[in-house]
Amino acid sequence: MNDALALPVGTTLDRFIHRKQEDFPYATGELSQLLRDIALAAKIVSREISRYDQNTTGAVGLQNVQGEQQQKMDMIANIRFIRALRNGGEVCAIVSEEEEDIIHTGNAHAKYIVAMDPLDGSSNLDVNIPVGTIFSVYRRVSTQQEQGTLADCLQQGTQQVAAGYILYGASTMLVYTTGRGVNGFTYEPSLGEFFLSHPDIKIPATGHDYSCNEANVSFFPLGIQNYLAFCKAEKYSSRYIGSLVADFHRNLLKGGIYFYPGTDKNPEGKLRLLYECNPLAFLAEQAGGKATDGVARILEKMPAQLHERCPLVIGSAEMVDKVQKYMTL
Ligand code: AHG
Ligand code: MN
Ligand code: MN
Ligand code: MN
Repeated sequence: MNDALALPVGTTLDRFIHRKQEDFPYATGELSQLLRDIALAAKIVSREISRYDQNTTGAVGLQNVQGEQQQKMDMIANIRFIRALRNGGEVCAIVSEEEEDIIHTGNAHAKYIVAMDPLDGSSNLDVNIPVGTIFSVYRRVSTQQEQGTLADCLQQGTQQVAAGYILYGASTMLVYTTGRGVNGFTYEPSLGEFFLSHPDIKIPATGHDYSCNEANVSFFPLGIQNYLAFCKAEKYSSRYIGSLVADFHRNLLKGGIYFYPGTDKNPEGKLRLLYECNPLAFLAEQAGGKATDGVARILEKMPAQLHERCPLVIGSAEMVDKVQKYMTL
């Protein structure tokens, strides 16, 4: 049952969240409030991104825990989401790509954890290519008398209670799931509201677009190299934006596959399990697609570290299945 079935396109996000809450008699409103807090931060970051000036573009001159050059907007987005989640009061701990350790919000009695990529594809920002934010929500497993623990943050993807992304593109969109289908909302800056624009998103079972960084092909597992050759033989189109959220969103709506296998630089792949692979895998499966590391289901992986990387193959179910066949020949 999808949440949007009874609500018309044009419904505001707030109305949609409120309506969904009525469906959960036991719900006490905390997750609804958390989603509103994320939407608030998304509006602020959307405004900052559209303000192209020396305060928001370029590198900070620091490396993050990933060894990447932090962009100013990475930091701004990180601060904005942490502040919104801290002030909203529903989150006890946050894992962020831009923070080495768990951020404790001080909301010791809050029951949710958020893992996030505050700005995905940030190296594209200065050349005005779409970027995104990715988030994943878990219920804490520790008792609610103390601050969030490492065990709260290192849960299997199957335990997510919500996941989504914001795509800062030609328009800003919020796409999320709470386990009852996937719905997309488009932001109207003049009204300061997100409106339901893509109810009950289902990813086509197959597609003709593939996304990967072909510069790394010589390091891909043989099965992936053979799948890539299959795509070319089938005359598929190569579409690689270099922003995972943008590539994923296109495949979600049109059908297609994205893969970031292990390379020489990142033998376990570049993408991080907690705040890139897991949330997008939850969305993909809720929309009828699939997500694996080439062979195994992403959502069943057991994280051991906050920033661990994982190979990712994600998109239309039949295409992900085909990769699995090539990988197990
Ligand atoms: P982030 O900007 O959050 O570090 O993520 C960037 C990721 C992903 O968005 C994109 O698909 C990929 O890095 C591009 O990597 P390559 O430049 O190695 O292809
Ligand atoms: Mn990064
Ligand atoms: Mn990212
Ligand atoms: Mn990022």
